[in-house]
Amino acid sequence: KEIFLKDYKPTGYHFDTVELKFVLSEKKTTVVSKIRVLPRNSSESPPLVLDGRDVKLLFVKINGEERKLEEVELTSRHLTLKSLPVQPFDLEIGSEIHPETNLSLEGLYKSSSGMFCTQCEAEGFRKITFYQDRPDVMAKFTTRIEADKAQCPVLLSNGNLIDSGDLESLTCCGQNGFHYAVWEDPFKKPCYLFALVAGQLTSRDDTFKTRSGRDVQLRIWTPAQDVPKTEHAMHALKLSMKWDEDVYGLEYDLDLFNIVAVPDFDMGAMENKSLNIFNSKLVLASAETATDVDYATILGVIGHEYFHNWTGNRVTCRDWFQLSLKEGLTVFRDQEFSSDMGSRPVKRIGDVALLRTAQFSEDAGPMAHPVRPHSYIKMDNFYTVTVYKKGAEVVRMYQTLLGKDGFRKGMDLYFERHDGQAVTCEDFFAAMRDANSANLSVFLRWYSQAGTPILTVSTAYDAAARSYTVKCKQEIPSTPGQPVKEPTLIPLAVGLLNSKGEDMVLTELFDGGSLKSLKDTAGGPAKTAVLLVDKEEQEFTFLNLPEKPVPSFLRNFSAPVRLVTPTVTDDDLLFLLAHDSDEFNRWEAGQTMGRKLMLDLIPKAQRNEQLAEFVAKALTLPGESELMDLMEVADPDAVHTVRKFVIRELASKLKQDFLKTVTENRSSDPHYTFDHKNKARRSLKNLALGYLCSLDEADTTELALKEYKSATNMTDQFAALSSLCQNPGDVRDEALANFYEQWKDETLVVNEWLVLQSMSDIPGNVKNMRRLLDHPSFDMKNPNKVYSLIGPFRRTAVNFHAKDGSGYEFLAEVTLQLDKMNPQVASRMISSLSRWKRFDEGRQSLAKAQLERIAKTDGLSENVFEIASKSLAA
Ligand code: ARG
Ligand code: ZN
Repeated sequence: KEIFLKDYKPTGYHFDTVELKFVLSEKKTTVVSKIRVLPRNSSESPPLVLDGRDVKLLFVKINGEERKLEEVELTSRHLTLKSLPVQPFDLEIGSEIHPETNLSLEGLYKSSSGMFCTQCEAEGFRKITFYQDRPDVMAKFTTRIEADKAQCPVLLSNGNLIDSGDLESLTCCGQNGFHYAVWEDPFKKPCYLFALVAGQLTSRDDTFKTRSGRDVQLRIWTPAQDVPKTEHAMHALKLSMKWDEDVYGLEYDLDLFNIVAVPDFDMGAMENKSLNIFNSKLVLASAETATDVDYATILGVIGHEYFHNWTGNRVTCRDWFQLSLKEGLTVFRDQEFSSDMGSRPVKRIGDVALLRTAQFSEDAGPMAHPVRPHSYIKMDNFYTVTVYKKGAEVVRMYQTLLGKDGFRKGMDLYFERHDGQAVTCEDFFAAMRDANSANLSVFLRWYSQAGTPILTVSTAYDAAARSYTVKCKQEIPSTPGQPVKEPTLIPLAVGLLNSKGEDMVLTELFDGGSLKSLKDTAGGPAKTAVLLVDKEEQEFTFLNLPEKPVPSFLRNFSAPVRLVTPTVTDDDLLFLLAHDSDEFNRWEAGQTMGRKLMLDLIPKAQRNEQLAEFVAKALTLPGESELMDLMEVADPDAVHTVRKFVIRELASKLKQDFLKTVTENRSSDPHYTFDHKNKARRSLKNLALGYLCSLDEADTTELALKEYKSATNMTDQFAALSSLCQNPGDVRDEALANFYEQWKDETLVVNEWLVLQSMSDIPGNVKNMRRLLDHPSFDMKNPNKVYSLIGPFRRTAVNFHAKDGSGYEFLAEVTLQLDKMNPQVASRMISSLSRWKRFDEGRQSLAKAQLERIAKTDGLSENVFEIASKSLAA
């Protein structure tokens, strides 16, 4: 059933307090919930509709009086109560659930590590008990947990521990050795932030003193053997708490903050109030088992979940259409945090690269949706790069438009107005606008229109007038259900370089009939101007420019658009690559060159011609999917051939330099340090090694083997292994076998071993994939295993898009198997087939056949159905 934003209605009943009681057991857990209900209206009592799925109803009591079960309305999805009091009343519901057979990993489930654990966002609470499962129902929760003391020595929920102890042994009921804990969360919250964890866990403990003097206990819980691997996560948590105080004045609000790591988790992590639950992959790290990338990711996600305490929990979403209100904002905050902790330009480049590959292509396909979607069948399908990453870009644009101080004022006003409330994207917009008395005109369209705007910018210099005119044209492509678009407000950051490569001072701008003098935010001379592009076509003229400049457009990627610059020449790009003061745009100039050169080569590859000589301009080349996105009809074979060719050309031309880079960037210090200097050194060395191995020559293989054997940390060891794995043969097979032997007891490392084989572009890899499905290291029930083995395969041009359709067929098979256990993960996997129309006719019909086969499968989940049917319809 499709749900629409325009149909939003507040509930007829508020929930004031909720007392939950769990008696935990894997086969059968009983849940009793006692809710203080406040009718909105004291003159009538509409039916109260409670959500519930896979929950067995035991009893219902209203003000202590039992209702006959024949008198309530119960379907597989709802419990409806009628003839209710018009005055506040107590509703008590007894129910039963089965954690052990819950493979969907939402609601309460038993993890393979033996612990009980919950995941409620978006709509998992209804798998725990009957409730108004929607974010605008906010209540104070108290949670009592009873469980076997030996099996579950640790009992956790949200808030403060207010009572705990042993239960008298009731041998008659088999409850020998039970104990209990009572948790009280003083903050009102929606049920999606509820959490419960119980099991055999050990914690790493630390403390943090907030700036107003509150001592907060910090605990990170894992199985005992993993505690040594939580040091980095704890460090990251303390950095996050400090950063939110320093940058936003936001303090933690309770005396305890818990993080739990679980090995089976559908997503990255979850911000449950004071009890964050994390996928182990995003908590556990050691130099031997985790790479630099892992360390950086952990830092960012620990920050992200912590920052949700204010942006998400204290102020939450009115309905799920507003998801980006908390996610876009919190991603923006974690991006800024990571930038402040490491290298700002490197972080920005990584974020933009991801946006361009994943989000731009989502925005151009059948699942395209606005940052705030208008409708959904299954909300889980809308935890997307659009909502998260484009949403973060929308938040970043406020900061670009209003300045850092203006943005902070807007944040302050947002909390002043909405603390404790469930609100909408307009409320955030209004706070930003009102705090700055700004006119943001059509900016709200970023929330309602899907599709990546194409911004075409051309220029003309008038030497006599010493003026430089910038002509802008914006066009938003139509997307499913949105044929016509209106122009939005695009902040276009511009710098102008003089012939020495310096930023010219920008003094005056003629903009739509008015003359503006330009200053930077501190009132000094302006080196970057932000043009407000809000019409379909528009002109801006910079005055007082003594010479013709080289323009640097969209500095720091000031808006999530595709930039087209017909008047920028290759010489301009080389000049920017060498001189631009905006680091992001220096990188971008190299990427633009790379894209142009490779796209020029593609027709030649398609005609099977000899490929022309290529000169090294940039070291990390744009990826295959990015190039395919830029083609009329995506041709995976040609793109792959060209990219491999260019890599080999670069490697052979620069072989001596790369060899030197490897030698010079080795470290004699076996101790691993995660800091910018060492990360940069390792990444440069390992990049060079990768290029060298593309040559598949005896000496380069020798070198990579040597690096592999001498590595003292996972970053270097894994990079050497990946380099070796580029080329089929005995060396590859032996290295893979050796690596597995060494690490077979470290699940997270084994997962990366699966990734490496999954992403292989050695032709015919489907056979190997099928073999790995039966390998002891794989388990379809564990999402991390699926993401590792099946995920990367879908990005391989030669294997997933194999001409014979074997890749599509393989993915469809796996998806159907998976859908029976975990629909959320299954629908994520199949989404890669959604862009089937981008390819040649042969591939189109092969992919379409698989989508049709899926769509007509009996008993398909709503999750997979939504993706398959929308992909076929578009
Ligand atoms: N709120 C979580 C986060 O961003 C993610 C929850 C994802 N839920 C889902 N059903 N996919 O940190
Ligand atoms: Zn989040």
